Amino acid sequence: MDNNDSIHIDIPVNELTISEAKIELKQLAKSIAKYDRYYYQLDAPSISDAKYDIYRKRNIAIETRFPELIRKDSPSYRVGANPIKKFDEVYHAQSMLSLDNAFSEEDVIEFIARIKHFLCLSNTEKIELVAEPKIDGLSINLRYENGCFVQGSTRGNGSVGEDVTANLLTLKDLPQHISGKVPDILEVRGEVYMLRNDFINMNEARRVAGDKNLLANPRNAAAGSLRQLNPKITASRPLSLFCYALGETSENVANTHWDFLARLNEWGFKVNNLARLCYGIEDILEFYKTIKDKKTLLPYDIDGVVYKVNDFKLQNRLGQISRSPRWAIAHKFPAEQVQTIIYKISISVGRTGALTPLAILKPVTVGGVVINRATLHNEDEILKKDIRIGDTVIIQRAGDVIPQVVSVIKTKRPADSHPFIPLFICPVCGSNATKPEGEAIRRCTGGLICNAQRVERLIHFASKNAFDIEGLGEKSINFLFHAGYINSPADIFRLEKNPTLINQPKWGEKSTNKLFNAIRVRKIISLERFIYSLGIRQIGETMALLLAHHYRSFKTWYNSMLIASNDHECEIWEQLISIDQIGISIANNIIDFFKEKHNLQALNDLVEQLQQITDYSVPSQHISPIYGKTIVFTGSLQILSRNEIKARARELGAKVTRSVSTKTDYIVAGANSGSKLIKAKNLKIQILSEAEWIELIENHIS
Ligand code: IVH
Repeated sequence: MDNNDSIHIDIPVNELTISEAKIELKQLAKSIAKYDRYYYQLDAPSISDAKYDIYRKRNIAIETRFPELIRKDSPSYRVGANPIKKFDEVYHAQSMLSLDNAFSEEDVIEFIARIKHFLCLSNTEKIELVAEPKIDGLSINLRYENGCFVQGSTRGNGSVGEDVTANLLTLKDLPQHISGKVPDILEVRGEVYMLRNDFINMNEARRVAGDKNLLANPRNAAAGSLRQLNPKITASRPLSLFCYALGETSENVANTHWDFLARLNEWGFKVNNLARLCYGIEDILEFYKTIKDKKTLLPYDIDGVVYKVNDFKLQNRLGQISRSPRWAIAHKFPAEQVQTIIYKISISVGRTGALTPLAILKPVTVGGVVINRATLHNEDEILKKDIRIGDTVIIQRAGDVIPQVVSVIKTKRPADSHPFIPLFICPVCGSNATKPEGEAIRRCTGGLICNAQRVERLIHFASKNAFDIEGLGEKSINFLFHAGYINSPADIFRLEKNPTLINQPKWGEKSTNKLFNAIRVRKIISLERFIYSLGIRQIGETMALLLAHHYRSFKTWYNSMLIASNDHECEIWEQLISIDQIGISIANNIIDFFKEKHNLQALNDLVEQLQQITDYSVPSQHISPIYGKTIVFTGSLQILSRNEIKARARELGAKVTRSVSTKTDYIVAGANSGSKLIKAKNLKIQILSEAEWIELIENHIS
């Protein structure tokens, strides 16, 4: 262990003399290298993460003030040091949201109508919007403290990203220090991208050097370059940066997005100069058309434009739904389309047993990527589009979406083309594959005995956003499953007790120990990850988070689901279906999971292997006077729209329900409240007017 006495951090960075700075940078380089060695090579951290962070940030702060003193062995660049093995996690102070998409003018019109409805604006009122190109790159968060760049991270899953500070420091467009009137804490968000010419030159240089791994497109090249564990490699890649959004900030920096962009510019950030302030729908659609027409002339790739409500107060009122803001939308350019031939239709069996037909295609290049398969979604879709094997078809690819078959060119249909015949038997386990009346998808009924589902479920279970077990990827799981080591999630935690794994080829003592360590640290897991990891149909990350937020503890969730699965009429079922965004279909999937005896056995077995499923912890902004309260809104409201008032209540941690019961804490009654108000009075529930309600939550409406 290190006693850290040698590092003195009591002199503020801006008071250091040049010789003090020089000595300290030397000391920091030496110590941080030592801590890294303990951490990465010996797997035995010698100081706390918090202290380590302080040293790294201080090192960057000193380097920012005295760039001439940056050492060859600077920990920020890790020049001369071993590349790190894995990025540190960064918890975003404010979630990094994604954007909802509009694919047509109608979608954009609807977006504006939704906003007006939410804000109770009349049809004739015009909303100010900022329209910007949507850069096709990788989003990042840049954190500045007292004007110094201290940390940069990727978006990750929106809540937790990867610490790519050292890599970002190599970008020429990144201001390492900003001056003028800057808040103590300022987070700026933007997109790392690669200019098309830089990409072409880089690939050409690789080709000349005999490198066969050419990069598919500028976006992949940018993402791959930024996520290099060795910053020396990132430094050699031509990366650029545009900034366009605000993260956490300790004080107000502007009242509108437009003014914010101007401030970014003053501070020295690169802001896209095609951004325009627009008034209403005609203006933004005009912008879309102009940008679409000049898209190929731009030196960088864009995949659409983004519209953002200009006024920050309105943005705050609009808030977010799921993982995207209500105040912004991406208007995407049409997907690129090409023609090719369907050689064959094969079936893949997914984690939930869905049989998905896949078109095996004559390889073609779409948007710089070679495509040799496309999804056909389901057999109804094949029938509807009359797709046959041997047909020439138009396929399209938009962004990262799996390529799709759009239509058949009937005039090119060969005489020997033949229709697709659905499989009634699962190609993996031989169980019946059925398609219930009214459903589009055929599913294997083999459940837990179907290897496709088992392996897929295990892969999902160990994946990044679920249990995140390092080293337990697709390949290892396939091996461990087929060699009989794991059959269910709980088996993963029993692996360590199996002495024979070590004798398997490629599973020496070092790699098994590493895996056991990675498994051990996951014996404590958060409730939302746990729920997500179960792979219940339709329970993705967002739904898992909503469930965790509602039930708080594993015990409450588990017991509630058991009760609801035995009685469809009970209050717990009613509560489940009234959770925001969880409707009957999703609730039924959860209940179906709990009804299945084998699933319960596997679940209980897993819980026994774990040390703790931690309760959902409430983000600080959710601590409010209505946090955890159950609210009913009734009657017609005058000040806020019903959608807005409900959304705000949910954001502040309240449960909004439709019916009044003894569990209701407040009823907010507008004009003409009927039977609900009477019932509330009878039950002696606290009744608030709309104005009283707004007063109660006022400090929390930003
Ligand atoms: S705003 C809360 N503006 O698009 C909204 N995003 O598909 C924050 N993107 O994750 C994003 N250009 O990576 C915004 N001008 C722009 C953008 C932009 C590209 C990316 C960003 C975001 C993704 C959503």
